[in-house]
Amino acid sequence: MTSPVLEAIYRRRSIREFTDKEILREQLHEIVKAGIWAPSGLNNQPWRFVIIQNRDLKEQVALQTHYGHIVRDANALIAVFLSKDDMYDTVKDVQSSGACIQNILLAAEALDLGAVWLGQILKNKLEVNKILGLADSFDLMAVVALGYPAHRSQKSRRKEVSELLLKEF
Ligand SMILES: Cc1cc2nc3c(=O)[nH]c(=O)nc-3n(C[C@H](O)[C@H](O)[C@H](O)COP(=O)(O)O)c2cc1C
Repeated sequence: MTSPVLEAIYRRRSIREFTDKEILREQLHEIVKAGIWAPSGLNNQPWRFVIIQNRDLKEQVALQTHYGHIVRDANALIAVFLSKDDMYDTVKDVQSSGACIQNILLAAEALDLGAVWLGQILKNKLEVNKILGLADSFDLMAVVALGYPAHRSQKSRRKEVSELLLKEF
């Protein structure tokens, strides 16, 4: 079975090593736009974004996670937040943010960029808000690190459908 969407889903790997090549602002906006086109409950679009390419700010964010080396190496970061003032149901809004982040990863893949979803940084999410000058009403969901892949040799594996399918009627 081939389709551009399925190919991107299966080809996408978490990329954690990047070249120095600059990502264009237009590309980052395209990636955010793909995030915005994710589905959300009631189409409430509770997500908000911060794009970071500034080296000093990137370093400050890097210090908030065990994966600081990835943040430093990345050419750009997209921090994805939920706007608490625009939420209507915690579970559904968090699910929507996950769909948004996955769209961001797939858009990066489609543009031949590499990306990784960073969640460990959430343990310091309030600190990240302070660094970015954001009110606590913005709840950090993930930081996506992006850049041109230094290589594409990452391997990953998934369980078989038969292991995960509970029932089939
Ligand atoms: C909620 C979530 C949090 C994650 N946090 C991190 C992280 O902090 N650091 C990291 O290197 N990768 C992180 N990842 C990436 C996963 O490790 C990765 O998706 C998984 O190992 C499967 O590999 P693949 O994306 O290459 O298929 C996270 C992924 C998700 C969905």
